[in-house]
Amino acid sequence: MTQARPLEESARSRILAAAMRRALVLAAQGPPHGPNPRVGCVILAPDGSVVAEGFHRGAGTLHAEAAALANARDVDLRGTTAVVTLEPCAHHGRTPPCADALLEAGVAEVHVAVVDPNPTAAGGAARLRDAGVRVETGLLADAGEELLRPWLHAVRTGRPYVTLKLATSLDGRVAAPDGTSRWITGPQARAHAHTVRAQVDAIAVGTGTALADDPSLTARVPEVAEGHDGGDAHQPLRVVVGHRALPDDARLRGPGGELLHLATHDPAEVLAALAARDVRHLLVEGGPVLATAFLTAGLVDELHAYVAPVLLGAGATAVGDLGITTIGDAARFETHEVRRLGDDVLVVARAARRAAADGTTADGAADNAADSAAHAPATRRTNEPDGMPHAHPTKEDH
Ligand SMILES: NC(=O)c1ccc[n+]([C@@H]2O[C@H](COP(=O)([O-])OP(=O)(O)OC[C@H]3O[C@@H](n4cnc5c(N)ncnc54)[C@H](OP(=O)(O)O)[C@@H]3O)[C@@H](O)[C@H]2O)c1
Repeated sequence: MTQARPLEESARSRILAAAMRRALVLAAQGPPHGPNPRVGCVILAPDGSVVAEGFHRGAGTLHAEAAALANARDVDLRGTTAVVTLEPCAHHGRTPPCADALLEAGVAEVHVAVVDPNPTAAGGAARLRDAGVRVETGLLADAGEELLRPWLHAVRTGRPYVTLKLATSLDGRVAAPDGTSRWITGPQARAHAHTVRAQVDAIAVGTGTALADDPSLTARVPEVAEGHDGGDAHQPLRVVVGHRALPDDARLRGPGGELLHLATHDPAEVLAALAARDVRHLLVEGGPVLATAFLTAGLVDELHAYVAPVLLGAGATAVGDLGITTIGDAARFETHEVRRLGDDVLVVARAARRAAADGTTADGAADNAADSAAHAPATRRTNEPDGMPHAHPTKEDH
């Protein structure tokens, strides 16, 4: 392949961008949960044609670059270009470093979307450059960052990315005055919430919700409900926060993800315990006391507000007193997405990015989490490997 005709620079840029878009699509086929990032890789011949593709299928499987190289086993890869969504790793896990594998294959050029922030795995770009390979980073970096958002956040801050789910009436209530709360939102909103459960590593509720609602906290996505993939479906770790004990016959002890009961009221402690278990993405599903605690601690990175066209006028609100006394101190988020789900609306909002003194910006929640990050163990990219649906949810979306 080394003898192929070189491309014009502009044509080459277009081909590289297209290859990166394809690599991102491939990466998205990997599991969004688990300790490892989703990564895709496309290998191009000098004439710009695609020689091989690969993506990472989760912890314990080949990295994207290794998967692409394996798919091109009988091809001479000397002089080719690798387009990868995340910087190739430089560390020995179960497999040799991807940077070394690319070097051995004779890859001449590497284009990366996102530089790996993980100190254990980083350094692949430097290793490749040292060996004479041209390495460019930042190609479609925004799209790469978006794909890896929870993972990058967890690795950069040392604590899981926190999504807070709220399912409310138009007036922000989660239950009527008598405590009934079943089905404020409709089936499409509930189905969407289950797909989110299937994407996260862990779900947390307070003991109040665990005792009042007896939820199962399983991911009941259509494939699981229909039994197509029930055996292998990912079920997130189920986390209950608070001191009270759960009854022996609690549904949380039934089929589903592992149950972890954390006898604390401190959200930072919760996140540190989960970081120690390589949890990258936590979904907090309430109730109001736990939601308020995470918001007050500044530990919510993303809000999923499912709002139903229902008015209650009285009853518990989704969020309690945040200690805010004036509008200027409101906890503000930035709308990322608005989606109609049947009669309901989902608003996905993210912690506002704040300008820092040095002119850079940072996630508000990440800033506030500095304390928790300080005592949370460093997360790492690892090669270690990382139920059944419940048919009778009792209350709102459990
Ligand atoms: N519509 C919805 O989307 C939705 C979602 C969830 C819940 N709900 C409703 O909300 C109700 C339960 O509300 P809730 O606020 O009691 O539930 P909760 O937030 O799940 O649980 C509160 C309990 O958790 C413990 N806890 C954990 N962290 C705490 C902290 N930082 N500060 C104080 N206590 C902490 C305390 O119990 P210990 O004494 O055991 O420590 C506290 O009483 C249920 O009726 C449920 O149906 C509705």
